[in-house]
Amino acid sequence: MAYKLGLIGHPIGHSLSPWIHDQFLDLARLDGEYKLYEGDHQALPNVLKHLKEKAVDGFNVTVPYKQVIVDYLDEMNEDARILGAVNTVVNEGGKWKGYSTDGEGYVRSIVEPFPNLLKNQTSVLLLGAGGAARGIYRALVQQQVKTVDIANRSKDKAEAFLSLRTGEVKTSVLSYHEAEAQLSEYDLIVQTTSVGMKPNVEDQIIQLDNLRNDTVVSDIVYQPITTSLLEDAKQRGAKIHHGHAMLLYQGQLAFEKWTNKNLDVAHLVDRLENKLRGE
Ligand code: ATR
Repeated sequence: MAYKLGLIGHPIGHSLSPWIHDQFLDLARLDGEYKLYEGDHQALPNVLKHLKEKAVDGFNVTVPYKQVIVDYLDEMNEDARILGAVNTVVNEGGKWKGYSTDGEGYVRSIVEPFPNLLKNQTSVLLLGAGGAARGIYRALVQQQVKTVDIANRSKDKAEAFLSLRTGEVKTSVLSYHEAEAQLSEYDLIVQTTSVGMKPNVEDQIIQLDNLRNDTVVSDIVYQPITTSLLEDAKQRGAKIHHGHAMLLYQGQLAFEKWTNKNLDVAHLVDRLENKLRGE
């Protein structure tokens, strides 16, 4: 059986997902295709009708359709329902079920190089409170770390995250200045805003003067591969974690849901980096 997979979004011409899923299909020794289904808001109903008629096995959903796709689904898993966003749709016996793999993909990507990081009463600082941050926040609190504080420009947006909490995890909402002042409290700092993304590569969301050198600094921005924030953290002797790893692992999880194949993809992190560098 040849898998029929793909991506909907707008614009998606530069997406790395076809490359990533072609690698996964090869690795799993499966036949299949992963195609781009681009369309603006007006075209979306027809794009989805086409996918339904084609009986695709599954597809990813990216900007700007992660919320509107919900109206076209038969079911959603609990995390996707709570987040109100879907990035992976699985055709389960003709019914479309929505999942969100961003958060768990992020956690997988950080656990691979730092297996003990989320185990020991960990204190995490999340920078930003947008769509990407929501999924990551939810996945981190599910790890039962000690603290996940959120710093954001507008505090009310971050306060809305408190309803996503589970278990005993503590969360304080901070300004960026407050976060900078208490930076030495954190074992992991996760940057989720678009600050520092190409072409604004000089921009850095917070200053790292109070950073401990055993803290892991992670940035989900992957263009450039090493953002100013990561470069600064590296110069200060801290450990760093790049954004493209998350991209790979959220794909790994989506692929697992479509094909039931659990692939070891660690060796692809460097290949994806080369691909991003245009090598
Ligand atoms: P995404 O879904 O990709 O996370 P988003 O929902 O637009 O994107 O979220 C953008 C995040 O980046 C928010 O946390 C936003 O801060 P506000 O909630 O205060 O708007 C943050 N952000 C974007 N540009 C920023 C900037 N120049 N300075 C600080 N924060 C910024």
